[in-house]
Amino acid sequence: MAHVGLDISVERWERLILRAKEARACAYAPYSKFYVGAALLCGDTIYVGCNVECADYDGTHAEEAALAQMILGGSRSYEAIVVIGGLQDIEAPVLTMPCGKCRQKLFEFAGFGKADPVILLGHDAGKGEVRTGRVRDLLPHAFGPLDIGIDSSK
Ligand code: THU
Ligand code: ZN
Repeated sequence: MAHVGLDISVERWERLILRAKEARACAYAPYSKFYVGAALLCGDTIYVGCNVECADYDGTHAEEAALAQMILGGSRSYEAIVVIGGLQDIEAPVLTMPCGKCRQKLFEFAGFGKADPVILLGHDAGKGEVRTGRVRDLLPHAFGPLDIGIDSSK
């Protein structure tokens, strides 16, 4: 898989934003009314997910859903992620940061192989600018698969 890292073009980020917004439109969030969509870049493929809530209040987060799609698609790593969230009625959903449990799951597939994934932290469409950070920096001093001898790429 190509290592694109921070060299991902603005156009590609915008494509990921669009796909995350489309995924968010499918979210099922009648309890919190907070709709989330996530898009993962894996080579030439984009995997998306949305949050799915449940009457037992144990729902699935958008990032988890996107990671599950990625695994189903045969990838064990990703180069970039965009998460878009906002309350149901808002017209302009915004970049949203993954919660703690999603950071752990994103980290699970961030530490191996050639990919050193990046997350979109800021986007100024007018100026065509993006601000990014490393997924691994979302979880300082992380405990991950390597600590228990697991290679998540296998
Ligand atoms: N949510 C996500 O989908 N991803 C996150 O990392 C943050 C929270 C969802 C869970 C719940 O359905 C709603 O947003 C409100 O917390
Ligand atoms: Zn989460």
